[in-house]
Amino acid sequence: EARYAVFGHPIAHSLSPRIHAAFARQAGIALQYTAIDAPPGQFPDILAAFATGGGRGGNVTMPLKEQAYALSATLTPRARAVGAVNTLTWRDGQWHGDNTDGAGLVRDLTGRHALDLRGRRALLVGAGGAARGVAAALLDAGVLELAVVNRTPARADALVDSLGQPGRAYSRYWDDLSNQGDFELIVNATSAARGTGAGAFTAPMTLVNSRTLAVDINYGEAAIPFLAWARAAGCLHVVDGLGMLVEQAAEAFELWHGVRPDTSPVYDELRAEQV
Ligand code: ATR
Repeated sequence: EARYAVFGHPIAHSLSPRIHAAFARQAGIALQYTAIDAPPGQFPDILAAFATGGGRGGNVTMPLKEQAYALSATLTPRARAVGAVNTLTWRDGQWHGDNTDGAGLVRDLTGRHALDLRGRRALLVGAGGAARGVAAALLDAGVLELAVVNRTPARADALVDSLGQPGRAYSRYWDDLSNQGDFELIVNATSAARGTGAGAFTAPMTLVNSRTLAVDINYGEAAIPFLAWARAAGCLHVVDGLGMLVEQAAEAFELWHGVRPDTSPVYDELRAEQV
């Protein structure tokens, strides 16, 4: 039986094993998919042992996506563009890296939520690894322009530079957000509310107009501050990252097993458990 796993640190609360098990039941495929805790210093050894023990595919989450990129013998263009890998496939004695996060987000928004991203002025909050995947996917999905704002401005500048679309993608300062007009799409890709003791999310309400879609790529507790702000600011649509999680898993499942799962029942089940 082929073995699959999600690697992260911490990993205990990952929903990925449940999601992949549900997809496998749907497809009538027998597979083993576990969660493997991998402290960053041990990830290369743990991944090698996994392959030796029959591991054929891995999902990778925080804080290992950049390492997974470095450990990949080949990379898809989208993984290369993002500089991070969330999906590893074992083939010909090597790990091959892909990144399905951005595609998962766009599929959730345009499919499940039936929202058109094209032509929207977009604001991306955050410039870490997760934000990089989101930025490239939003540009591919046809947003009109993409402003990036980050606590550390130099990282926003670096992200925008790497996108290579000057004029369309640009960085802005937090303190200058009230002069940037309004946006039809605002995405929170920071990790500010992960972990404990997160404060409120604050930003000018002038960022929002009558059509604004607000998205947090986090879900559960970690999405509460931004989504509370988005509701208070009057955003028309407010979406958390649960659908993105299920869709990026579906992309990986299709890559490994050649079958595209029906994500709706899995999403509905997880949604019913959310606070
Ligand atoms: P990830 O892989 O989740 O993107 P990361 O690469 O460490 O993790 O990036 C975390 C992002 O959340 C960054 O944009 C970070 O801002 P900085 O670049 O200034 O560090 C942002 N972030 C984390 N904690 C934050 C906080 N308390 N307030 C604002 N932004 C925060």
